[in-house]
Amino acid sequence: MPLVSTKDMFRKAYEDGYAIGAFNVNNMEIIQGITSAAKALNSPLILQVSAGARKYASHTYLVKLVEAALIETDLPIALHLDHGDSFELCKSVIDGGFTSVMIDGSHLTYEENVALTSQVVEYAHSRSPEVTVEAELGRLEGVEDDIAVSAEEASYTKPEQVEDFVKRTGCDSLAIAIGTSHGAYKFKPGQKPALRFDILKDVERRLPGFPIVLHGASSVIPEFVQKINEFGGKMPDAIGIPEAMLREAAGMAVCKINIDSDLRLAMTATIREYFHDNPGHFDPRQYLGPARQAIADMVSHKILHVLGSDNKA
Ligand code: G3H
Ligand code: 13P
Ligand code: ZN
Repeated sequence: MPLVSTKDMFRKAYEDGYAIGAFNVNNMEIIQGITSAAKALNSPLILQVSAGARKYASHTYLVKLVEAALIETDLPIALHLDHGDSFELCKSVIDGGFTSVMIDGSHLTYEENVALTSQVVEYAHSRSPEVTVEAELGRLEGVEDDIAVSAEEASYTKPEQVEDFVKRTGCDSLAIAIGTSHGAYKFKPGQKPALRFDILKDVERRLPGFPIVLHGASSVIPEFVQKINEFGGKMPDAIGIPEAMLREAAGMAVCKINIDSDLRLAMTATIREYFHDNPGHFDPRQYLGPARQAIADMVSHKILHVLGSDNKA
C-alpha cells in the first residue's frame, strides 16, 4: 500500500471515537519498533518527522526507511512533517514525498498565521493526490527543536477563533492548546495534571466533524523515568498526561495524538539498563535490539489502551 494522507484516517477515527498515534521518527530502530507494533495490532499510523529529525537523519534516509516499513507492514501510514515553520520547508517535504504537513504559525499574530497556513494549504491541496495540512491555534509550553516556550508565552486556544480560522485557511486538522506541553516536564512536582476539556468541548461544538490534534501528549511513563534514574541517569520529577485523559480526548474530536518523549524515554531507559547489566558489551545491535523492542511494547500499549486504533487499518 502507498503512503496515505490523513484524510480518511481522521474521518474514520472521528466517526468511531478513537485516535491515530503520531509518533516522531529519527532512525531505523524507532521506525521498526513503532511499525512492528502497529502491524501486529492492525493499526493505522502517522510517522512524523521534525525539522531536527530531518537534519539528523536526512530526508532521503527517513523517506526510504518509511517506504521499507510500508513494504513490511502493508498498513495505511501517513508521512507527516511535524512543526513545519515555513512555506519553503512544507513545500520541500511535499515535493519529496510527504503525504501530510503541519504548518505551525502558532507563534505568529492571528492574521499572519491565517496567511501562512493558507499559503501552505493552497500548495498542498493542489497536489495530486492531495496532501493534508495541520495548523495550530494557541501555543503549547515546552521545548521543540531546542526552542523553549515558557509558561508565560504559552496560551490556551481561543474557541471563538476556530471557525474563522478553519474557514479562511482551509486546513484539514487543527492542533489546539488545552494544557498539554512538549517534553518530559509537563507539570510541576505536586501539581495535579489537568487539561481544559471545556475548551475542547467548545471547539468540538463549533467545528462538528473536524479533526483536532493534541501535541505534547506523552504520558512520560514513570517506569522508564525510574529506570533511567536507577541506572545512572539524573532526571528530576517528570510528569506527563494521564492515560485516562488521553482516552477521553480520543473519544471526542481528537483524532491525532502526538508522542515523542515516551519513545525517547523507552529507548534511553532500555539502553541504560542494558549497559548496567552488560558493562563489557559494545556491539550496537545488542543494545539497540532491546531498545527497539521496548518501543514496540510501548506503542502496543498506546494502541490498545490509549488510542483505541487496533484493528482499524
Ligand atoms: O514537538 C517536538 C517533537 O518532540 C520533536 O522534537 O524537534 O527535537 O525532533 P525535535
Ligand atoms: P511529547 O513531547 O509529549 O511526546 O509531544 C510530542 C509532540 O507533540 C510532537 O509534535
Ligand atoms: Zn508538537
